[in-house]
Amino acid sequence: MTATSDTAAAAPAAALPLGRTETKSHPVNHLWRLDDGRQTMVITATGERLPQVVYWGTRLPEGEDLRTLHDAHMIDVTGGMLDENPDLSLCPEASRTFPGQPGLIVRHQDGTPLLPKFCFDSYTNGSDLKIKYRDEGNGLTLTFEFVTDPKTYMIEARTILNADAPVHLHWLAAPVVPAPQASDEMIDFTGRWCGEFQTNRTAWSPGIRYRENRTGRTGHEHFPGLIVPCTGATNTQGEAYAFHYGWSGGHRMVAEELPDGRRQIQWGHAARMEHEAATEFATAPLYMTYSRTGLNGCAVSFQRHVRDRIVTWPKPDRPRPVHYNCWEAVYFDHKLDVLCDIADRAAALGAERFVLDDGWFGNRDDDTRALSDWEVDVRKYPDGLTPLIDHVKSLGMSFGIWFEPEMINPDSNIHRAHPDWALGAEDQLLGRQQKAINMALPEVRDFIYDRMAAILANHDIDYIKWDHNRVLPMPDAAQTRGSYQLIDRLRADFPDVEIESCASGGGRIDFGILKRTQRVWLSDSNDALERLNIQHNAALFLPLSITGSHVGPRKCHTSGRILDISFRAWVAAQRHMGFEMDPRELDDYEVRVLTEVTSWWKHNRDWMENADILRLDSSDPAVICEQQMTREKDRFVVFAGKAATSAQISPRPLRLTNLDPDAMYEINLANRVTASHLSRGTPALKDGPITVSGAYLMHHGLTLPWSFPETMWVLEGKRL
Ligand code: DGJ
Repeated sequence: MTATSDTAAAAPAAALPLGRTETKSHPVNHLWRLDDGRQTMVITATGERLPQVVYWGTRLPEGEDLRTLHDAHMIDVTGGMLDENPDLSLCPEASRTFPGQPGLIVRHQDGTPLLPKFCFDSYTNGSDLKIKYRDEGNGLTLTFEFVTDPKTYMIEARTILNADAPVHLHWLAAPVVPAPQASDEMIDFTGRWCGEFQTNRTAWSPGIRYRENRTGRTGHEHFPGLIVPCTGATNTQGEAYAFHYGWSGGHRMVAEELPDGRRQIQWGHAARMEHEAATEFATAPLYMTYSRTGLNGCAVSFQRHVRDRIVTWPKPDRPRPVHYNCWEAVYFDHKLDVLCDIADRAAALGAERFVLDDGWFGNRDDDTRALSDWEVDVRKYPDGLTPLIDHVKSLGMSFGIWFEPEMINPDSNIHRAHPDWALGAEDQLLGRQQKAINMALPEVRDFIYDRMAAILANHDIDYIKWDHNRVLPMPDAAQTRGSYQLIDRLRADFPDVEIESCASGGGRIDFGILKRTQRVWLSDSNDALERLNIQHNAALFLPLSITGSHVGPRKCHTSGRILDISFRAWVAAQRHMGFEMDPRELDDYEVRVLTEVTSWWKHNRDWMENADILRLDSSDPAVICEQQMTREKDRFVVFAGKAATSAQISPRPLRLTNLDPDAMYEINLANRVTASHLSRGTPALKDGPITVSGAYLMHHGLTLPWSFPETMWVLEGKRL
């Protein structure tokens, strides 16, 4: 990253030494510039006032005069307006007549609202940019932090509020940025159990698009992401801006168009989730990126940033192991001989990690009881877990285990002993017959830590599936901080153990939890048709290496749909592959196909784990496609999933993206043998590989054989 700075009276930006601290004795009009090679953000301040982003977009030339940009950014004043336009600053202040939502709402401890008005204090400008402002009258200090990344092109920004005496916080926004005006709509995310990552497209109009998640967890309904495409942008072309708020406790997003036409984007924790007065509050990191290569430019930045910067891998060189998870095979009915038989079959199919799901502890025979009683159920495991673990290990698989640490059933020994440990009112509504346990209490965290540590210390376990199956009774930042503390402590003491974030599927997916975990259980839907779409949209933020995807039962348990094994297997092979059906149900054909596809995945995972997932602009809405490609662009695989019957008879050519137009590529239809009997013609790809240029692939596209809905074509590409 480079961050340069200037003042109105000082020398040009590049001449300033980095890393020094300026003080308030310096002249007015502060000028700062962030660059990562792809994007530039220019932040300037008028006089002592809070700074504002006056430019954010494609990289500016080095010689650009920031002062001119500052002046040129000024909008005109006409009738019916104030005599000067209030700044759309990094924290818009109500006290400066800002005509939209303020960036900070805070009260004195006695309840009196404070109306902050900040003045320049100092800045530090090294590899990161830190700008400090002070409101002497109210005893408040506001700090904005920016970090850029020249490899992932991600800007990470936070706001920190310090108070001389404790204050109550209602709302604190991460650094507020303007949204482009050359944009017609914004895309944010909603979802539900078994239906995560649904996109909402909302047209810009005067007023607010306001998303607030008050459930206390990230939630299926509220993935904290936003994409603002400029007019005409698609997956593969045009300009786009994208945001993600890295926090697991529920966020608030404001996308507001002001009466004068300017647009602001605010992100922070959900309002009023800090229950105690305090002297310091900080937002979570806000991740932002700008792309000139369509939504994919943003998606690739997020994917790389998650994989290479956010997640910490216990064994970075270990390929992601193929999982087997027993949940949909046995549910709560754990029997050692059955599980050993299942493990044998899973290993034969190619599994490398066996995950024992819910049902191994307390008297957990169904989901009404025993959460928090984290001791092995001796009725089901009279000799403990070791016989099962030994068997799994003898098959060459590692062993993982399920916990739901932040939860408690009223019907549990721990709730009977400590009813006060449950979070929320005694008469609260239950969720899945359970309550959350109060993670803000140190004694609760110690207790859960001790129980979990005992299991981990006494068994050969390298993986936890960490579940969170209900929303909180009310938003509470202390609960999220408590969860983070517990995970951090366990990770410090068991550094080789990986963690999967699950919350009834994809209910806790965000970069806050991903700083502490290595996989997400994207959805409880193992229905390949639904997964195809969920995965496609999740790829706007998530890379393959952390996105779990399992081959489910022949008849899907959550949709009732019956899908062919080939489709189920290929959809799982698009991400971190695993199996979750009862392998005893598989017939010979299914065993053969699943073994083959798993072997294909293992042969390709080394490069696919580090590949970029590029969503393709399909000219047929029935076909959902993506291109996974190495950074060097020398190797790729295209997955073209047919989600429905097409309106037209013949498949429309499939245009690839981001290739070298002058290079020649060999394209091979990897699963051509699965062509249906209704494909009677002779498209070249049916016969064998073809060699064509990048220009042809990107501007004409590949003509695929006709196929049934609920099937997938897999195309392998190599640069020659
Ligand atoms: C919800 C998860 O999403 C499932 O995969 C499974 O682990 C169950 N909880 C277990 O109770």
